[in-house]
Amino acid sequence: MTNEQYHTFIQPYSDATEILRARLNVLEHNLYHESAAHPIHNIQHRIKKKESIENKLHKKDKEPTVMNAKDYLQDIAGVRVICYFTKDIYNLVDILKFQSDLIIIRERDYIRNPKPNGYRSYHIILGVPVYCMDGMEYFPVEIQFRTLSMDFWASMEHRILYKIKRDDKEQIAAKLEEYASTLIEIEEQFARYTEK
Ligand code: GTP
Ligand code: MG
Repeated sequence: MTNEQYHTFIQPYSDATEILRARLNVLEHNLYHESAAHPIHNIQHRIKKKESIENKLHKKDKEPTVMNAKDYLQDIAGVRVICYFTKDIYNLVDILKFQSDLIIIRERDYIRNPKPNGYRSYHIILGVPVYCMDGMEYFPVEIQFRTLSMDFWASMEHRILYKIKRDDKEQIAAKLEEYASTLIEIEEQFARYTEK
């Protein structure tokens, strides 16, 4: 994959990301009027770098071509929505799913079903319609919904463990699971103050 091929390839993914971000911002404004509280703390986004695309294809035993990237990778465009509370996440997901021009490609609820290590987050890959000169095509965007406390845990875990080799992983893992439960409790304690 040449640099030029990469840049041409990612453009519609970048456009799809912008479309989704705009929609999330609209929801944030609407919900603000409704409940007088912002559900979203912040939104981050990234487009997978050329090297990461090539490495991931390599792991999947595929040639590093744009065709394979398009066919085998669904996380080229990524948006991370950091909410305050778990209920904000389900609320936003429900409303997004109601937008009938978006298609649901894959959904993983790691909040109701956390990973064994304690990772919690709601992942949904949406097909976003992008209109260009030749017509419309859906491009996948992976959205990760997390609360501040889930994001805190995931960022720390990513920093010290994720995809990193080290000898004391097992001892740390037990602790991380414990911290994950503690963080859920703290988030729930804060949530009690939002109930009117
Ligand atoms: P990847 O090959 O990593 O993309 O996994 P996947 O295609 O099976 O998808 P999954 O939904 O499980 O995870 C995708 C993304 O979620 C990762 O790229 C991370 O950003 C995040 N993630 C998943 N599991 C963990 C975890 O245990 N810790 C942290 N910190 N992040 C995770
Ligand atoms: Mg991924």
